[in-house]
Amino acid sequence: MTKIINGKEISAAVKERIKGEVTSLREKGIEVGLAVIIVGDDPASKVYVANKEKACEQLGINSYKYALPEETTNEELLELVKKLNNDDKVNGILCQLPLPKHLDESLIINSIVPEKDVDAFHPQNVGKIMIGDFDFLPCTPAGVIEMLKYSNIDMTGKKCVVVGRSNIVGKPMSMLLLHNNATVTVCHSRTKNLKDECAAADILVVAIGRAKFITADMVKEGAVVIDVGMNRDENGKLCGDVDYDAVFDKVSAITPVPGGVGPMTIAMLMQNTLTAAKKQNLK
Ligand code: GUN
Repeated sequence: MTKIINGKEISAAVKERIKGEVTSLREKGIEVGLAVIIVGDDPASKVYVANKEKACEQLGINSYKYALPEETTNEELLELVKKLNNDDKVNGILCQLPLPKHLDESLIINSIVPEKDVDAFHPQNVGKIMIGDFDFLPCTPAGVIEMLKYSNIDMTGKKCVVVGRSNIVGKPMSMLLLHNNATVTVCHSRTKNLKDECAAADILVVAIGRAKFITADMVKEGAVVIDVGMNRDENGKLCGDVDYDAVFDKVSAITPVPGGVGPMTIAMLMQNTLTAAKKQNLK
């Protein structure tokens, strides 16, 4: 029987623990705060930001939203980040990506002080993840690891294949799997024999942003499949990067879309915000 790895259930358990910690910090007079910056009108980004705000509210974390117009300049955005860097009420700062094309994403990300970089996108935090001495883990890869551990899926010695090499998911994902003693292969658009690489995986993690790209012939019998994708199919219905219905009977465990990795990303963001607040207040 195929196990459905339920991100809603697992994230609820993670958030419940965080809520308890936020409550006990408040009893000590410590408030936890997250600033979220969104520039422009990208509909998907708006939904993601609304979900982040909702999670903050559920957990008793103060959220400060800055919705800026499309025409915002680098200078204006840098000025805002500088203000938030120096605001003690703000423990974490998140700038929703992608930014409009005229803005310099790395300039903005690099201007967030590493202590408040709850996305773990700042080069200092990226470097710390590489050597395994980190304060924050990138939210989506951390959510995937949390799901595997919660589901008692051991990574040690397993052949893990990551499809996608983005800075947000693929690259940090491969590093976290490595820290968990997996044998890791990273595949991408130039990989030769992608089908064979995927079909050799004990644990397949897919983050490419292409609807139902992974078909049944690309997965091994009994594999664990983690689908990071969030796309619309030909009927406008939400779907992942994996053809869920086609691979379902072949695999031992799989994450659904929606209700899989998505909710975990937000739970890990809440975790990072809590970690930041503790580090900044309990020295
Ligand atoms: N855009 C898509 N995913 C993310 C994320 O995890 N963090 C931020 N800041 N932007 C994103």
